[in-house]
Amino acid sequence: APATPSSPMTAHVGKHPGEPNVADPALIADPFGGYGALREKGAVVRGRFVDDSPVWFVTRFDEVREVLRDPRFVNDPAVVSADGTRENPLTRLLDMLGMPEHLHVYMRGSILNNDAPDHTRLRRLVSRAFTARKIMDLRPRVEEIADDLLDRLPEHAEDGVVDLLEHFAYPLPITVICELVGIAEEDRPQWRAWGAELITMDPERVRRVFPAMIEHIHALVSERRGALTDDLISELIRAHDDDGGRLSDVEMVTMILTLVLAGHETTAHLITNGTAALLTHPDQLDLLRSDPALLPPAVHELMRWCGPVHMTQLRYAAEDADIAGTRIRKGEAVQLLLVAANRDPRHYADPDRLDLTRHPAGRAEDHVGFGHGMHYCLGASLARQEGEVAFGRLFARYPRLSLAVDPADLQRAPVPGSWRLTALPVRLQ
Ligand code: HEM
Repeated sequence: APATPSSPMTAHVGKHPGEPNVADPALIADPFGGYGALREKGAVVRGRFVDDSPVWFVTRFDEVREVLRDPRFVNDPAVVSADGTRENPLTRLLDMLGMPEHLHVYMRGSILNNDAPDHTRLRRLVSRAFTARKIMDLRPRVEEIADDLLDRLPEHAEDGVVDLLEHFAYPLPITVICELVGIAEEDRPQWRAWGAELITMDPERVRRVFPAMIEHIHALVSERRGALTDDLISELIRAHDDDGGRLSDVEMVTMILTLVLAGHETTAHLITNGTAALLTHPDQLDLLRSDPALLPPAVHELMRWCGPVHMTQLRYAAEDADIAGTRIRKGEAVQLLLVAANRDPRHYADPDRLDLTRHPAGRAEDHVGFGHGMHYCLGASLARQEGEVAFGRLFARYPRLSLAVDPADLQRAPVPGSWRLTALPVRLQ
């Protein structure tokens, strides 16, 4: 079960009236209304992070992109204090979860928690594996995996109802990323279970699961050292050796962990959110069916309208900075509200309307669902391609697909900053 109202996640909700906490169940239940209202209050608004520390919410499309491009805002909070000891909210969060200290380095070593030059070095090491060309080469394999899963869907039906999250949206991206990274088939169910537990942010589960994942990857890396292949783990080991060991073991393990987790959890929810959106907007689904060329721009619109990631990681002001007339002081934390920016009426006409024809060119700039700037999602082309394959194949294979529950009864996981269904029950016929 996901975090409950009594969990440490919601311990600080409501403590500061007028300063919404990202763990507030009301905001998680209605992010478009809740964060939308904040956006209309201002481009920069006071709020609170899960651990009760103050953050500035940046709410509007232009300002979100501006901050994400602004080198005065950094990802590693240690750099904003002269002695490098500023208390890291990530550390506080890890403490809150009761994570043993020797494991903190694995979070801090992440590409997302680093700035140039470490970020540049880490990003260069992995970006070779995610070029548009490499991703295009993967397409036939992604289609094969999707078709195979779709063929087997009826086996999972109970009274004609199948959970599309469990039997299609999860296994598709996890198979793709595990093949790419080099995680054996027999280990994948374990990874999926770990991922699902981690995302609950339930302290007891996280404490159990996280060390097991770390240990598993260390074992995998030493095993692969003995017999390199053409997978990403081998590529990272080669990079480590070629580069005089500049890529540390901790960084390597963290990178693999990041790729596997970021590579399937999010994409699975793009697929279910998008499928639910299309099934509840039959005119849009008809449009898509009548014109398969609409698939790429449709995925951009679905990312805008119901993308699974609602906010970025925190950024910190490395010096005083004015954003839309608000002074952000050195060291203060900033939270970019992608969900609010993606529905900003200053940028989009009729922003709450799902309109698959909205972005005819289908460009990365059409929305901020994958972030922006130097931390722009490394896996964006892969995720988009998986979305295109998933929607294209699913609706072609099951033209009579329908929701098996009332749309209002679809359950969302109470995870701050994300938009995840707990299941997507559908009828195939
Ligand atoms: C970064 C969203 C799929 C790997 C990000 C960021 C967002 C995001 C918003 C920026 C976070 C920030 O600036 O704080 C998504 C969504 C996905 C998706 C919505 C699916 C629909 C993937 C996939 C992979 C991946 C498939 C892996 C192959 C990464 C990595 C970063 C990242 C490594 C960090 C990049 C950096 O720090 O330079 N993603 N992502 N993501 N994503 Fe994704």
